[in-house]
Amino acid sequence: MFHVKVPATSANLGPGFDCMGLALTLYNNFYAEKSDKLEFILKGTYTQNIPTDERNLLWRTACRLWKKIDYTPTPLRITLDSCVPPARGLGSSSTAVVGGLMIANAVAGNPLDRFELLKLASEIEGHPDNVTPAICGGITLTVMTKDVLIPRCLAKNPLFKSVVVIPDILVETEKARKILPASVSRADVIYNASRVGLLVDAFINEEYSLLAVATQDKIHQNQRASLIPGMTDALNSAVEAGAYGAALSGSGPTLIAFCPDGNVDTVAETMKAVLSKHSLSSVTMALDVDSEGAVLTTTSSSY
Ligand code: HSE
Repeated sequence: MFHVKVPATSANLGPGFDCMGLALTLYNNFYAEKSDKLEFILKGTYTQNIPTDERNLLWRTACRLWKKIDYTPTPLRITLDSCVPPARGLGSSSTAVVGGLMIANAVAGNPLDRFELLKLASEIEGHPDNVTPAICGGITLTVMTKDVLIPRCLAKNPLFKSVVVIPDILVETEKARKILPASVSRADVIYNASRVGLLVDAFINEEYSLLAVATQDKIHQNQRASLIPGMTDALNSAVEAGAYGAALSGSGPTLIAFCPDGNVDTVAETMKAVLSKHSLSSVTMALDVDSEGAVLTTTSSSY
């Protein structure tokens, strides 16, 4: 049997739209074993609306890898054990993409290395901000050129906690991308570019006090505020309550605050209370940055 454990991720980290992200210590686990037909077993907290046939994202991704390497698809019994909430901005679909690629690669005898899997995952996702940390772990910046992908790990074990505040609403990434304007002003480009530089500096040099400014953004967060009642107030309240900085996680609705250990509870309670004033209930978690990324374990040679 093959087992792939893939971390949840938080993309953008404020100004790093479509290029920065980090892995979190919250996981989806996928298991695959030989079968005479395609079968799915759903376990874990989030089992609703997951297709259990050829439309399943993990399966479609596996087939895409097999097609690329010219390998005949083989039926599998796949168990999905999901702890990452879907459509909340925590990279749930990236976990399925990464899980599908790693399982398909393992079934075929591991012909592709981790970098080739990352390139394929980025092509499938369209941007690498979730898949790079999901595959590599840590806090990452990924640059895509026409021909190459340049993934960089800025830190593996940063000295802060990530408070994630998960509102009880769904935001579909496609919808949250459609509302963004097609172009941005020169002033906003300068605003974001300077803060991405500061964000990289803050993570590499562990100068987390820079994060209050370094997590600010002008090109996607405010534009998405209409989808998440109380978002801006909650992000501001996080810093007032003692977080180093805070941002919308991916395309939302989850918010993420980077905190010193001692301020975790106050920050979580404050953000939750602000959302609650806007009639939005939420669940909070205090997580660390996952340093390993996706891990494949083979538990029997004949899988
Ligand atoms: N960078 C993406 C976005 C993350 O903000 O739309 C979600 O896939």
